[in-house]
Amino acid sequence: MADVNLFTPGRIDGFDTKNRIVMAPMTRCRADAQGVPTDIVAEYYAQRAAAGLIITEGIAPSAVGLGYARTPAIESPAQVAAWKKVTGAVHAKGGRIFAQFMHVGRIGHSANRYTKTPLVAPSAVKAAGQMWTDAMQMQDYDAPRELALHEIPGVVEEYVAATKNAIAAGFDGVELHSASGYLPMQFLSSNTNLRTDAYGGHVHNRVKFVVEVLEAMAKAAGSVDKVGIKISPAMPFNDISDANPVETYTTLVKAIGNMGLAYLHVLQSAPEPSYFQMLRPLFKGRFFAGGGFTKESGDALLRSGGADFIVYGKLFTSNPDLPARFEKGAPLVDPDPNTFYAGAEQGYITYASL
Ligand SMILES: Cc1cc2nc3c(=O)[nH]c(=O)nc-3n(C[C@H](O)[C@H](O)[C@H](O)COP(=O)(O)O)c2cc1C
Repeated sequence: MADVNLFTPGRIDGFDTKNRIVMAPMTRCRADAQGVPTDIVAEYYAQRAAAGLIITEGIAPSAVGLGYARTPAIESPAQVAAWKKVTGAVHAKGGRIFAQFMHVGRIGHSANRYTKTPLVAPSAVKAAGQMWTDAMQMQDYDAPRELALHEIPGVVEEYVAATKNAIAAGFDGVELHSASGYLPMQFLSSNTNLRTDAYGGHVHNRVKFVVEVLEAMAKAAGSVDKVGIKISPAMPFNDISDANPVETYTTLVKAIGNMGLAYLHVLQSAPEPSYFQMLRPLFKGRFFAGGGFTKESGDALLRSGGADFIVYGKLFTSNPDLPARFEKGAPLVDPDPNTFYAGAEQGYITYASL
């Protein structure tokens, strides 16, 4: 693998990529109150089309999965039409784009939701902590309702409908967000999944929801190689914890490793243990590594054969032409956390390319 670097063309089952640089999914809160991406969203993604692959911000498969202010969904015709503009703008610039499906589960507040139904989760365990609402500033998370066993197929169907909508909207594929303490990770993790039925308890039961959702998404996409997954083993974000993350994630990746998925995207959030080293041999398909990479550390991991693609997040917010800057050794603009989730155009589509 000595000759592979960030600028080596790659392949993600159905298509070739210009390079090995992936833009990470990043929530940017530029949708309207009905979960419809505004027109600047298409411009934002088109500006970043030089990535080998763009993964969108978390998109709720249905309104039930929305938790944050001004975040998008892909359920209503207006939402789907807006996403069509995004994929059209990216494809016109020669880019490729997957939609990330983010169902928040228990991480939300009613002030941020246009549906009045309560939050749902594997168990009725309220998250500790607070989140931003535009109407009332910081608020405690709402308490979730436990999903009844007979309701779980309906949640899977929401991902199926979202997958069909995403393909109809022109996305090249779809990613299941099974990281960062949201619904799929709530099923995986022992502090949020207290169920005693087929979806809880033993690790084989806790991974069942994620496996079923991926199988259903693959069927809905018409091809398993249009589906990827993101995980963040042992990341404590959103009050999530697991008694044995090594066992949980090796079991999960063994269960999905031979499905033929487009990729496994691993966010490593602490130096040890290396989930890249642990999980890569268990997965047949492209391996994406993310979490704090620089140009140098990304190139080094590719060279050593430790990953097939490197995922960059924050750097893409303020450097729309990140691949060109890396290639030329040009200076990078520092990300501005003040405009990550607010500011409309400012700090969103206002960064220049070289
Ligand atoms: C502003 C912001 C929003 C994010 N939103 C999401 C999201 O919607 N879905 C997701 O999977 N990860 C999200 N992340 C995490 C990134 O995808 C990525 O894993 C993380 O930032 C680590 O990569 P980096 O160090 O290159 O930024 C977000 C990160 C940032 C900075």
